[in-house]
Amino acid sequence: MCGIVGYTGQGQAVPFLLAGLNRLEYRGYDSAGVAVMDGGQLSFVKTAGRIAELEEVLAGRGLSGRVGVGHTRWATHGRPNQQNAHPHLGCHGDVAVAHNGIIENHAALRRELEARGHRFRSETDSEVVVHLLEEYSDRDLRQALQAVTARLRGTYALAVVRTQDPNAVGAARQDSPLLIGLGEGENMLASDIPALISHTRRVVVVEDGEVVVLSAEAAHIYNQEGEVERTPLEVGWNLEEAERGGLPHFMIKEIREQPRALRQTMAGRLSEDLSQLQLEIDPGPLPRKLWFVACGTSYHASLVARRLAEDVLAIPAEAELASEFRYRHLALGGEDTVVAVSQSGETLDTLSAMRQAKAMGARVIGVTNVIGSSISREAELNVPTLAGPEIAVASSKAYTTQILALTFLVLAYAKASGRLTAAQEQAWAKELWALPEKAELVLQKEQEIEAVAARLSQAQDVFYVGRGTDYAVAMEGQLKLKEISYLHAEALAAGELKHGTLALIEAGVPVVALLTQGDLIDKTLSNLAEIKARGGWVYAITSHDLLDRQELDHVFVLPAGRDELAPVLAALPLQLLAYYVALLRQTDIDKPRNLAKSVTVE
Ligand code: F6R
Repeated sequence: MCGIVGYTGQGQAVPFLLAGLNRLEYRGYDSAGVAVMDGGQLSFVKTAGRIAELEEVLAGRGLSGRVGVGHTRWATHGRPNQQNAHPHLGCHGDVAVAHNGIIENHAALRRELEARGHRFRSETDSEVVVHLLEEYSDRDLRQALQAVTARLRGTYALAVVRTQDPNAVGAARQDSPLLIGLGEGENMLASDIPALISHTRRVVVVEDGEVVVLSAEAAHIYNQEGEVERTPLEVGWNLEEAERGGLPHFMIKEIREQPRALRQTMAGRLSEDLSQLQLEIDPGPLPRKLWFVACGTSYHASLVARRLAEDVLAIPAEAELASEFRYRHLALGGEDTVVAVSQSGETLDTLSAMRQAKAMGARVIGVTNVIGSSISREAELNVPTLAGPEIAVASSKAYTTQILALTFLVLAYAKASGRLTAAQEQAWAKELWALPEKAELVLQKEQEIEAVAARLSQAQDVFYVGRGTDYAVAMEGQLKLKEISYLHAEALAAGELKHGTLALIEAGVPVVALLTQGDLIDKTLSNLAEIKARGGWVYAITSHDLLDRQELDHVFVLPAGRDELAPVLAALPLQLLAYYVALLRQTDIDKPRNLAKSVTVE
């Protein structure tokens, strides 16, 4: 949902801004721009399309300057064209603003500002910010930003430069991520860590309601009361992890990284002799009801966790889409716990659902992959996934590490409430330890999946079926295929087929079947027989010995193990399948159309 960057220091601004925007391009990629303080004047370049196009234009322009801001856009208000690209400049060309978020009261502000003589050039909600800043040109940068943000309703991360402060970059935040990178003789701003780590690993998180004034020498953060002191975080990632490493797409890199991501997420949580879980998670008392709230892929991980919680803890558990949860009239209270699951930790629907639950007195727990993210900070307890940066828009390693982290959370409850015998604990520890190696074995069969992808890439529709946890995994499989290959796909609880969708099964229609839950396999096989009887083509993924597999057109065999952990392994062929289908269909795999990572609008 748009990426913003800012630079002030002894170096040139444009190379940092461009490198940063390239690393934030996953947040939005329909237009881009930079504005740089060049000899006391603001110069800017904006283009429709990808950062590569901006780079091309900039190469011919030789923009130089040591202070600047940049933006990559995911359009909300106004078409993705050059005029609507950020940064926006005011009437006199002496203020520039890059904005991520939505200004909800933009229409009223625009009317007011136009009546005062301001001329607007774009259709965006964001442009009001720059004109408001012009209204406060008699104030210093901090005061001007505070005056402007007092007028705004909605969400924003702002990066600002103005000619009257030729060495400074200003910023402000409300419900959109914003980080400061502290360098040597330079300071920077960005929406996310990958944009900063080429220059520094020392990062300060800006909080809601704060404004920032950066110079080459200092980073000042202010809230309503005055200046705020905050200890920087040390980022554990390195640059290599945020780069493609010679592979054609981030997605395939991230799929293949999963054994390592699982190991990192697991590190230190199993005793050396594998007799104990050393979870170091204090989940609090077992709740009356456990809720998992999330969106998209994180919701699918939550569905897996819900089943696990019901089975292991024997308490009611629900998984709900965050965007729906917020509008249900739920009677939550202190005896309930809500787990907000989010790779980015910034998804607004999930964050808002979590805040709502907290306001109602529920205990809130976060499961996030980004240190310092809003959900990780606002949750009473954060259980991190340590997947490393996930850059491809389609989530892969975040999903499997979420299932792992959620499993740890459920097991922590089980341990704390005496629901886990020593023998059970040991059995879990052994299975968990073996998981990354099993993931490696699955990934070694990448070529097998490539061959199946050719079959699927020709289809009109693809159906994914399973029962119980396999249904949750089927949902993730279909989402992956849809979002990166643009093929229509649908997931169904296998038992539901006969209630309507079976009408769509005819000769050659591909069906991907998940068969990893031992107690449900026979039932699912009966449903697959119904599909075969109508000429459907069945690709089955299983971790069990199937006696009756002659009916199935292709069987992908996963390493055997506990059914509860099978979703982690089953996700891998599904991700690879989506990837190879998309490759054959020549789509933009890392940046699929109309999408963006980190969805900070509702
Ligand atoms: C799909 C995908 C999205 C995200 C969803 C939530 O591959 O990545 O469905 O899972 O937008 O994002 P987070 O997990 O950051 O809250």
